[in-house]
Amino acid sequence: MIKIGPSIIAGDFSKLKENLKKAEKSKVDFLHVDIMDGVFVKNITFGPMIVEAISKLTKIPLYVHLMIVEPLRYIKEFSEIKGVELISFHYEATEKVSKTIKEIKKNNKKTGIAINPETPWEYIKKFLKSVDEVLVMSVHPGFSGQKFISHVLGKIEKLKEYKLKNKLNFEIAVDGGLNKETIPIALKSGAETLCIGSYFFKDKKSANFLNSIKNVR
Ligand code: DX5
Ligand code: ZN
Repeated sequence: MIKIGPSIIAGDFSKLKENLKKAEKSKVDFLHVDIMDGVFVKNITFGPMIVEAISKLTKIPLYVHLMIVEPLRYIKEFSEIKGVELISFHYEATEKVSKTIKEIKKNNKKTGIAINPETPWEYIKKFLKSVDEVLVMSVHPGFSGQKFISHVLGKIEKLKEYKLKNKLNFEIAVDGGLNKETIPIALKSGAETLCIGSYFFKDKKSANFLNSIKNVR
Protein backbone atom coordinates (compact mmCIF):
# COMPACT_ATOMS: atom_id res chain seq x y z
CA MET A 1 0.00 0.00 0.00
CA ILE A 2 1.40 3.34 -1.08
CA LYS A 3 1.40 6.04 1.59
CA ILE A 4 1.07 9.75 0.80
CA GLY A 5 1.94 12.72 3.02
CA PRO A 6 2.02 16.43 2.25
CA SER A 7 5.12 18.41 3.20
CA ILE A 8 3.70 21.26 5.26
CA ILE A 9 6.50 23.78 4.58
CA ALA A 10 5.30 24.01 0.98
CA GLY A 11 1.99 25.40 2.22
CA ASP A 12 1.35 28.99 3.25
CA PHE A 13 1.95 29.11 7.01
CA SER A 14 -0.43 32.03 7.46
CA LYS A 15 -3.10 29.58 6.32
CA LEU A 16 -1.95 26.63 8.39
CA LYS A 17 -5.46 25.61 9.45
CA GLU A 18 -6.75 25.62 5.88
CA ASN A 19 -3.75 23.61 4.75
CA LEU A 20 -4.33 21.02 7.45
CA LYS A 21 -8.00 20.83 6.43
CA LYS A 22 -6.97 20.23 2.83
CA ALA A 23 -4.68 17.42 3.97
CA GLU A 24 -7.44 15.89 6.08
CA LYS A 25 -9.92 16.08 3.22
CA SER A 26 -7.43 14.36 0.93
CA LYS A 27 -7.19 11.49 3.44
CA VAL A 28 -3.42 11.60 3.55
CA ASP A 29 -1.56 9.02 5.61
CA PHE A 30 0.80 11.39 7.41
CA LEU A 31 2.01 14.98 7.53
CA HIS A 32 5.66 15.49 6.60
CA VAL A 33 7.22 18.16 8.84
CA ASP A 34 10.60 19.59 7.81
CA ILE A 35 12.92 20.79 10.57
CA MET A 36 15.90 22.80 9.27
CA ASP A 37 18.62 24.35 11.40
CA GLY A 38 20.52 26.67 9.06
CA VAL A 39 23.62 24.52 9.58
CA PHE A 40 22.97 21.10 8.07
CA VAL A 41 21.00 22.95 5.42
CA LYS A 42 20.98 26.63 4.50
CA ASN A 43 17.36 27.22 5.41
CA ILE A 44 15.80 27.55 8.88
CA THR A 45 12.23 26.44 9.54
CA PHE A 46 11.06 25.80 13.10
CA GLY A 47 11.50 23.58 16.14
CA PRO A 48 9.50 21.48 18.61
CA MET A 49 7.32 24.38 19.80
CA ILE A 50 5.73 24.86 16.36
CA VAL A 51 5.48 21.10 15.77
CA GLU A 52 3.54 20.85 19.00
CA ALA A 53 1.23 23.65 17.85
CA ILE A 54 0.64 21.82 14.54
CA SER A 55 -0.10 18.60 16.42
CA LYS A 56 -2.85 20.38 18.35
CA LEU A 57 -4.57 21.38 15.12
CA THR A 58 -4.78 17.96 13.45
CA LYS A 59 -5.10 14.26 14.08
CA ILE A 60 -2.94 13.35 11.09
CA PRO A 61 0.17 11.51 12.33
CA LEU A 62 3.25 13.72 12.11
CA TYR A 63 6.39 12.40 10.42
CA VAL A 64 9.24 14.67 11.44
CA HIS A 65 12.13 15.05 8.99
CA LEU A 66 15.12 16.38 10.90
CA MET A 67 17.61 18.27 8.76
CA ILE A 68 19.75 19.28 11.72
CA VAL A 69 23.27 18.48 12.87
CA GLU A 70 23.61 16.03 15.76
CA PRO A 71 19.94 15.02 15.76
CA LEU A 72 20.49 12.92 18.90
CA ARG A 73 20.23 16.14 20.94
CA TYR A 74 16.58 16.64 20.01
CA ILE A 75 15.03 13.17 19.76
CA LYS A 76 13.54 13.23 23.23
CA GLU A 77 12.01 16.65 22.79
CA PHE A 78 10.33 15.79 19.49
CA SER A 79 9.22 12.41 20.88
CA GLU A 80 7.34 14.08 23.69
CA ILE A 81 5.00 15.75 21.22
CA LYS A 82 1.73 13.89 21.03
CA GLY A 83 0.99 13.17 17.41
CA VAL A 84 4.58 12.55 16.33
CA GLU A 85 4.67 9.01 14.98
CA LEU A 86 7.96 8.86 13.07
CA ILE A 87 11.25 10.71 13.32
CA SER A 88 13.79 10.60 10.54
CA PHE A 89 17.27 12.03 10.67
CA HIS A 90 20.09 12.37 8.15
CA TYR A 91 22.85 9.82 7.92
CA GLU A 92 25.15 12.68 6.87
CA ALA A 93 24.34 14.77 9.94
CA THR A 94 25.92 12.60 12.63
CA GLU A 95 28.63 10.10 13.52
CA LYS A 96 26.22 8.56 16.02
CA VAL A 97 23.84 6.81 13.64
CA SER A 98 23.26 3.66 15.76
CA LYS A 99 22.86 5.68 18.93
CA THR A 100 20.32 7.97 17.27
CA ILE A 101 18.29 5.00 15.98
CA LYS A 102 18.33 3.49 19.48
CA GLU A 103 17.22 6.76 21.04
CA ILE A 104 14.24 7.05 18.66
CA LYS A 105 13.21 3.47 19.43
CA LYS A 106 13.67 4.02 23.15
CA ASN A 107 11.21 6.89 22.86
CA ASN A 108 8.71 4.59 21.12
CA LYS A 109 8.69 6.31 17.75
CA LYS A 110 9.11 4.85 14.28
CA THR A 111 12.60 5.42 12.93
CA GLY A 112 13.57 6.88 9.60
CA ILE A 113 17.01 7.35 8.11
CA ALA A 114 17.35 9.95 5.37
CA ILE A 115 20.02 10.12 2.67
CA ASN A 116 20.97 13.00 0.41
CA PRO A 117 20.86 12.56 -3.37
CA GLU A 118 24.61 11.97 -3.62
CA THR A 119 24.89 9.53 -0.69
CA PRO A 120 25.23 5.91 -1.87
CA TRP A 121 22.58 3.60 -0.40
CA GLU A 122 25.27 1.10 0.60
CA TYR A 123 26.45 3.51 3.33
CA ILE A 124 23.28 2.77 5.30
CA LYS A 125 23.14 -0.98 4.53
CA LYS A 126 24.00 -2.06 8.05
CA PHE A 127 21.19 0.05 9.54
CA LEU A 128 18.44 -1.18 7.25
CA LYS A 129 17.32 -3.98 9.54
CA SER A 130 16.75 -1.52 12.39
CA VAL A 131 14.75 1.24 10.70
CA ASP A 132 11.09 1.59 9.69
CA GLU A 133 11.74 3.95 6.80
CA VAL A 134 14.48 5.04 4.44
CA LEU A 135 13.88 8.58 3.24
CA VAL A 136 15.51 8.97 -0.15
CA MET A 137 15.99 12.66 -0.90
CA SER A 138 15.23 13.42 -4.52
CA VAL A 139 16.25 17.09 -4.15
CA HIS A 140 19.05 18.70 -2.17
CA PRO A 141 17.54 19.24 1.27
CA GLY A 142 16.76 22.83 2.23
CA PHE A 143 13.85 24.06 0.15
CA SER A 144 10.64 22.86 -1.37
CA GLY A 145 9.85 23.61 -4.99
CA GLN A 146 13.03 22.13 -6.49
CA LYS A 147 13.33 19.85 -9.49
CA PHE A 148 13.34 16.06 -9.00
CA ILE A 149 16.85 14.59 -9.34
CA SER A 150 16.30 11.51 -11.46
CA HIS A 151 19.58 9.76 -10.74
CA VAL A 152 18.15 8.74 -7.35
CA LEU A 153 15.82 6.32 -9.14
CA GLY A 154 18.63 3.77 -9.44
CA LYS A 155 19.16 4.00 -5.69
CA ILE A 156 15.46 3.37 -5.03
CA GLU A 157 15.58 0.28 -7.26
CA LYS A 158 18.62 -1.07 -5.44
CA LEU A 159 17.06 -0.46 -2.02
CA LYS A 160 13.89 -2.26 -3.10
CA GLU A 161 15.88 -5.20 -4.46
CA TYR A 162 17.87 -5.47 -1.23
CA LYS A 163 14.75 -5.18 0.92
CA LEU A 164 12.93 -7.96 -0.92
CA LYS A 165 15.95 -10.23 -1.09
CA ASN A 166 16.58 -9.92 2.63
CA LYS A 167 12.91 -9.81 3.64
CA LEU A 168 13.33 -6.53 5.49
CA ASN A 169 10.47 -4.33 6.65
CA PHE A 170 11.60 -0.75 6.08
CA GLU A 171 9.48 1.41 3.79
CA ILE A 172 11.07 3.32 0.94
CA ALA A 173 10.02 6.97 1.10
CA VAL A 174 10.87 9.59 -1.50
CA ASP A 175 11.04 13.30 -0.70
CA GLY A 176 11.39 16.22 -3.11
CA GLY A 177 10.16 17.31 -6.52
CA LEU A 178 7.30 14.81 -6.72
CA ASN A 179 4.49 15.68 -9.14
CA LYS A 180 2.29 14.16 -11.85
CA GLU A 181 5.34 13.34 -13.99
CA THR A 182 7.77 12.13 -11.33
CA ILE A 183 5.40 10.18 -9.04
CA PRO A 184 4.78 7.41 -11.61
CA ILE A 185 8.50 6.87 -12.22
CA ALA A 186 9.28 6.92 -8.49
CA LEU A 187 6.58 4.30 -7.90
CA LYS A 188 7.85 2.20 -10.78
CA SER A 189 11.34 2.22 -9.24
CA GLY A 190 10.00 0.95 -5.92
CA ALA A 191 8.92 3.96 -3.87
CA GLU A 192 6.29 3.09 -1.26
CA THR A 193 5.81 6.38 0.57
CA LEU A 194 5.55 9.78 -1.10
CA CYS A 195 6.29 13.13 0.59
CA ILE A 196 4.74 15.80 -1.60
CA GLY A 197 5.18 19.53 -1.05
CA SER A 198 4.55 22.10 -3.77
CA TYR A 199 2.55 19.77 -5.99
CA PHE A 200 0.14 18.99 -3.16
CA PHE A 201 -0.40 22.58 -2.01
CA LYS A 202 0.12 24.65 -5.15
CA ASP A 203 -1.27 22.61 -8.04
CA LYS A 204 -5.05 22.73 -8.10
CA LYS A 205 -5.27 19.52 -10.08
CA SER A 206 -3.13 17.44 -7.73
CA ALA A 207 -6.08 16.16 -5.68
CA ASN A 208 -7.57 14.40 -8.70
CA PHE A 209 -4.29 12.84 -9.69
CA LEU A 210 -3.48 11.70 -6.15
CA ASN A 211 -6.96 10.20 -5.91
CA SER A 212 -6.39 8.33 -9.13
CA ILE A 213 -3.32 6.59 -7.74
CA LYS A 214 -5.28 5.52 -4.69
CA ASN A 215 -5.84 2.12 -6.30
CA VAL A 216 -2.18 1.39 -5.72
CA ARG A 217 -2.33 2.82 -2.21
C1 DX5 B 1 13.31 19.53 1.19
C2 DX5 B 1 12.23 19.00 2.09
C3 DX5 B 1 11.06 18.42 1.33
C4 DX5 B 1 10.30 19.47 0.56
C5 DX5 B 1 9.36 18.85 -0.42
O1 DX5 B 1 14.41 19.89 1.96
O2 DX5 B 1 12.75 17.98 2.90
O3 DX5 B 1 10.20 17.74 2.22
O4 DX5 B 1 9.56 20.32 1.41
O5 DX5 B 1 8.77 19.84 -1.22
P1 DX5 B 1 8.62 19.67 -2.80
O6 DX5 B 1 7.67 18.51 -3.02
O7 DX5 B 1 8.07 20.98 -3.25
O8 DX5 B 1 9.97 19.37 -3.35
ZN1 ZN C 1 11.39 16.66 3.93
